[in-house]
Amino acid sequence: MPSRVLITGGCGLIGSALVRRALDSGAEVLVLDNLSSGNEDFLPDDDDVEFVQGDVCDDRLVGELVHECDHVVHLAAGLGVGRIVERPTGSLRQGLIGTEIVARHAAVQRRPLFFASTSEVYGDSEGEALDEDRCVGFGSPDRVRFTYAAGKTAGEALVFAYAHEYGLLATVGRFFNVTGPCQEDAVVPRFVDQALAGGPLRVHDDGGQTRSFLDVRDAAEYVWRLLPASPRGGLLVNIGRDAPVTILELAQRVRDLVDRRVEIAHEPPAYGEGFVPIRYRRPDTKRLVACTGYEPQHSLNDTLRTCISYRRAEHTPR
Ligand SMILES: NC(=O)c1ccc[n+]([C@@H]2O[C@H](COP(=O)([O-])OP(=O)(O)OC[C@H]3O[C@@H](n4cnc5c(N)ncnc54)[C@H](O)[C@@H]3O)[C@@H](O)[C@H]2O)c1
Repeated sequence: MPSRVLITGGCGLIGSALVRRALDSGAEVLVLDNLSSGNEDFLPDDDDVEFVQGDVCDDRLVGELVHECDHVVHLAAGLGVGRIVERPTGSLRQGLIGTEIVARHAAVQRRPLFFASTSEVYGDSEGEALDEDRCVGFGSPDRVRFTYAAGKTAGEALVFAYAHEYGLLATVGRFFNVTGPCQEDAVVPRFVDQALAGGPLRVHDDGGQTRSFLDVRDAAEYVWRLLPASPRGGLLVNIGRDAPVTILELAQRVRDLVDRRVEIAHEPPAYGEGFVPIRYRRPDTKRLVACTGYEPQHSLNDTLRTCISYRRAEHTPR
């Protein structure tokens, strides 16, 4: 197992949960984060955690930090549909430049690498479970929404290129809607905040879009179990929970857990004209379960309760 892990983006949702999981196993953690969306306060106060504020596009710094560790987890990315639509170049630059830098140093210094990719690379579907052998295909690059998927697809290709040419031990994990308490710019925290504020919960379109949510604690467990599994030639694996719900049902669950009197309002599709919504997203998790021997331990309602109590405490004046 890893004894000292570099986690880029370690101050974010998945990163901070993974830091905790690594500490539970007795590993030391080095976190590199530019705090663009993450928060240093999400890191546990522990002597085995070292935080470096910096950017994954800083070639020299990344090289030094990779040298200090025996495994590398590359999570740093600018994400969230709202942020991507507003600043597509930032998202794409990190996908391309940051990932190239991290993958190159991991390859040259012979450190196994985990790279966080996304279910966005699959684009839309008919609601079937999406498996890793399916061809990626999102949409035309003139729609800015797809810059994130394009950057991640290029990142995957870079990682696999280093695996083939330089023998990099690599795992590429495609996350499907991971959620947890310290998340921003995503549907679960938005609904929870709207419900706590007395409503209404704002559902775009008819609310029939489906998503499969994975609790961040389960996501961290999966990444941790995948770290020693990096095979020669690379492993590509979905990381998610095959339990789709419609967005309307998600809103109803949040409302029922917070206050049944809160209203649900339907609004036009999000992000204005020209935005391409993704209707269905559902992971095939056979490979994930076979590689890790692990099934998610947290139900959606369990995850929602955790998010609600966290955000209720955050919003209550102290
Ligand atoms: N949460 C999800 O549902 C989901 C879905 C698909 C893919 N992913 C991928 O998983 C990874 C982690 O996602 P998350 O949900 O924890 O997001 P997050 O925004 O909570 O965390 C990302 C972290 O990266 C940091 N960061 C961003 N750009 C950086 C840079 N250039 N240099 C250093 N640090 C930088 C941010 O400050 C933040 O702490 C990302 O690569 C994301 O694309 C997440």
